[in-house]
Amino acid sequence: MEHVCKVGAPERMKSACLLVGVFKKNRLTDLGQSLDDATGGYLKRVLRRQDFVADIGQTQILYDPQECTATRLMLIGLGEEKEFSARKFGPALLPAFRLLQQSGATDCMVLLPSQHDDDSTYRLVREAVAAAEAAAYRFDQCKSESKPPKKPIRRVDFLVHTRPQVNAGNRAAKHAQAIATGTRLAKDVANLPGNICTPTYLAEQAQSLGRGKRKLKVTVLTEKQMQNLGMGALLSVSRGSRQPAKLIVLKYKGGKPGAKPVALVGKGLTFDAGGISIKSAAAMDEMKYDMCGGASVLGTIAACAELDLPINVVGVIPSSENLPDGDANKPGDIVTSMSGQTIEILNTDAEGRLILCDALTYTERFEPAAVIDVATLTGACIIALGDQASGLLANNDKLADELLEASEGSGDRAWRLPLWDEYQPQLDSNFADMANIGGRGAGTITAACFLSRYTKAYPWAHLDIAGVAWLGGKEKGATGRPVPLLTEFLLRRCRVSM
Ligand code: BES
Ligand code: MN
Ligand code: ZN
Repeated sequence: MEHVCKVGAPERMKSACLLVGVFKKNRLTDLGQSLDDATGGYLKRVLRRQDFVADIGQTQILYDPQECTATRLMLIGLGEEKEFSARKFGPALLPAFRLLQQSGATDCMVLLPSQHDDDSTYRLVREAVAAAEAAAYRFDQCKSESKPPKKPIRRVDFLVHTRPQVNAGNRAAKHAQAIATGTRLAKDVANLPGNICTPTYLAEQAQSLGRGKRKLKVTVLTEKQMQNLGMGALLSVSRGSRQPAKLIVLKYKGGKPGAKPVALVGKGLTFDAGGISIKSAAAMDEMKYDMCGGASVLGTIAACAELDLPINVVGVIPSSENLPDGDANKPGDIVTSMSGQTIEILNTDAEGRLILCDALTYTERFEPAAVIDVATLTGACIIALGDQASGLLANNDKLADELLEASEGSGDRAWRLPLWDEYQPQLDSNFADMANIGGRGAGTITAACFLSRYTKAYPWAHLDIAGVAWLGGKEKGATGRPVPLLTEFLLRRCRVSM
């Protein structure tokens, strides 16, 4: 999809459809007002009928507007003017883009609401492009016949007020497009079922991402190599599966040679049945999404490469299945992790931390400036934060604050939970250095406490994305989160040196 930002008179824009935001009480934006003036009060006349109340999500197409070079106008409800923010712009535009795809229009132009600083232009354009890309996303690889829209939208342009806003808007569109590329990749691999998206498949996707990109090197460690590294925790999970585990390593070298990389470590569990501590049948299919952390690492690195970001990033994706089997982990089994610490596996369904702990130890060799792991780690995180925010836990306040700022800036929210030492004794074991579960209370925190024992060598943050990585029910599907958050974090790290 292409995007261009322009300044000029709205009535003179040659577009298949001008998207005109309207606030409640028939309040027009500045550009909407110019359009209304130029068309002899057409918009106000329509609005006076009171059919259009400007709720967020409401749309109305008007054909052949007079004194205006566009073929269509679409009114877009923006809700109450004083409650409006960039965050509302995406949800306001999403139904409009969906509707446009049913129409004959293949391009459109969004009149940006009257925001007078470049920063809000940037945020508004980011939201709008993300909404257009979300409306265009289809996952029909597994249908016998794919049904693409007859007229997909090819371009979404923006009308802004000033020259500096043109620059801000174009920059936003470029960033948003790269984030959309990464989000699409993350959604695609995540939506694939467990029988197709195996650890081997995930590794192949990583390798094909690296193909033809000079700055990206991908290597995949086999079980044999992991054995030699002493990854007893990761391999114990994989033992119950016929698919071999993979440790996928992506090195994106956009920064100065020798500059410490940011490491992104993503849980790539391609199907989590729970193992011997088997899950109940309800919605177990959704455990194909247990590799969304890994998918988001792939997506973020794809975005970095598209933007040619001047930063070094290492992606590490431990990938395995977790199934019941005669050779699977049994409750009470004790394994030795790569760090040398021993773990009593009291619940085989707490497998994410077992594959992550070895990946986190492995990551030390890159001498990272910071490590962020991303995982669909605990059902408890869904109870705590639902589908709005990722759980954020960290051993470093500066890193946590940076991620919180990136979460505000990208609209891909995270919320910090405590990682106090007082939670650690929940992991005490009578037989090993630690247990892999911590009892009923604070499940998201005790999972992070477990990981914290493997991340003492570097500034580290953990994102529990169990609630945000996919939607259930009628809209079942991967969201691609937290690709926007992670890419925003890296963009901000670069801006210092860009
Ligand atoms: N992948 C799950 C976490 C999960 C569950 C994510 C449901 C999204 C929806 C993870 O491997 C798991 O099973 N965690 C257990 C941990 C428990 C045994 C301590 C959980 O959350 O129930
Ligand atoms: Mn599990
Ligand atoms: Zn899991």
